[in-house]
Amino acid sequence: MIQIPKSEYARRRKALMAQMEPDSIAILPAAAVAIRNRDVEHVYRQDSDFQYLSGFPEPEAVVVLIPGREYGEYVLFCRERNPERELWEGLRAGQEGAIREYGADDAFPINDIDEILPGLIEGRDRVYSAMGSNPEFDRHLMDWINVIRSKAHLGAQPPKEFVALDHLLHDMRLYKSAAEIKVMRCAADISARAHVRAMQACRAGLHEFSLEAELDYEFRKGGSKMPAYGSIVASGRNGCILHYQQNDAVLRDGDLVLIDAGCEIDCYASDITRTFPVNGRFSPEQKAIYELVLKSQQAAFAAIGPDKHWNQAHEATVKVITAGLVELGLLRGDVGELIESEAYKMFYMHRAGHWLGMDVHDVGEYKVGGEWRVLEVGMTLTVEPGIYISPDNLDVAKKWRGIGVRIEDDVVVTRQGCEILSGGVPKTVAEIEALMAAAQEQVV
Ligand code: GLY
Ligand code: MN
Ligand code: MN
Repeated sequence: MIQIPKSEYARRRKALMAQMEPDSIAILPAAAVAIRNRDVEHVYRQDSDFQYLSGFPEPEAVVVLIPGREYGEYVLFCRERNPERELWEGLRAGQEGAIREYGADDAFPINDIDEILPGLIEGRDRVYSAMGSNPEFDRHLMDWINVIRSKAHLGAQPPKEFVALDHLLHDMRLYKSAAEIKVMRCAADISARAHVRAMQACRAGLHEFSLEAELDYEFRKGGSKMPAYGSIVASGRNGCILHYQQNDAVLRDGDLVLIDAGCEIDCYASDITRTFPVNGRFSPEQKAIYELVLKSQQAAFAAIGPDKHWNQAHEATVKVITAGLVELGLLRGDVGELIESEAYKMFYMHRAGHWLGMDVHDVGEYKVGGEWRVLEVGMTLTVEPGIYISPDNLDVAKKWRGIGVRIEDDVVVTRQGCEILSGGVPKTVAEIEALMAAAQEQVV
């Protein structure tokens, strides 16, 4: 199973510490376990920032980075070994494992954090943390600071500044290493197989959830613990609901089905959308809209590269889609003016993509100093134009209503432009129809 190597976590911690101000400390908590109901928990997913710096998979843990500390710069608080709890819940690394397996210089039981952490903070000028994103942890942090303040008469020095860790850490996360690209390519490959499987299994009369089951099967078989987000399987008019998740309608002959789904590997997401006909053959109207979206996606790929800014890909999709909608008679007027007045938003109301990484909508700024960010090698993003013609749009001929098409791929910026990570799913009308026809023949 492809994973981020341990050495990379150490490199990340070093890189972060090198950017921290002198005499500072960074403190990050693990994600809390989310209760589903009574004794049942949601599947545990580590906090992305915590995972990025530690690779430590357990809850009830705190990473502390103290650049220049004589007895070790990386301290990990985590659960103690406990044979009885481990019998019920699974193995724990314990403090020994934290050091041996996860590279901590020093490790303490999480239950002792209130006694130990104030002493580690004391004398440091600045505290870096994800302020505001975890109110319960913020309260704990203030309690630890107050312990130091209460000892001021003994010469204890509380920190003078609190700094948001996000700026440093999220900028680091934006630039993917070779190891990260490898993991993301693996996630995209598994997701590509899942989309192919769903296309092959598609038949009128099945339900949207029948196709979701095919996706889940490939995700788990590929070693993914979970989808990176709730899978969208939207047939017919449901394809015009951008984040549709009910996935319970019957698949009808003559409709399209839009699948937006991707799995997660080692906490890295993939995010792929394909739209295809339930019966395996596009109608003329479905084909016209589909090919327009595809053309706009290709224009977007050409607008991605190291010397291009973030918005160029989006602008390219808007141009192609607006001109195409005029040609099809779905919009009327001058293309330039329709772009200016944003008339296209009635059919294309979202942006062409987002950063992709540990979070499906990954961290990282889109603008720097008020200007769109210039793309750099190693940044990863989605390219996902779409056209959605509302079933209730009485301004267009009936034959167009209820068609929703999105095509989404994952790309990494390279020196030459960009590389598509999710190319393993058929995308042209001819490719999709051929794949589905072959699958239908096999059954008959
Ligand atoms: N799957 C959510 C998105 O495409 O942004
Ligand atoms: Mn998506
Ligand atoms: Mn997306």
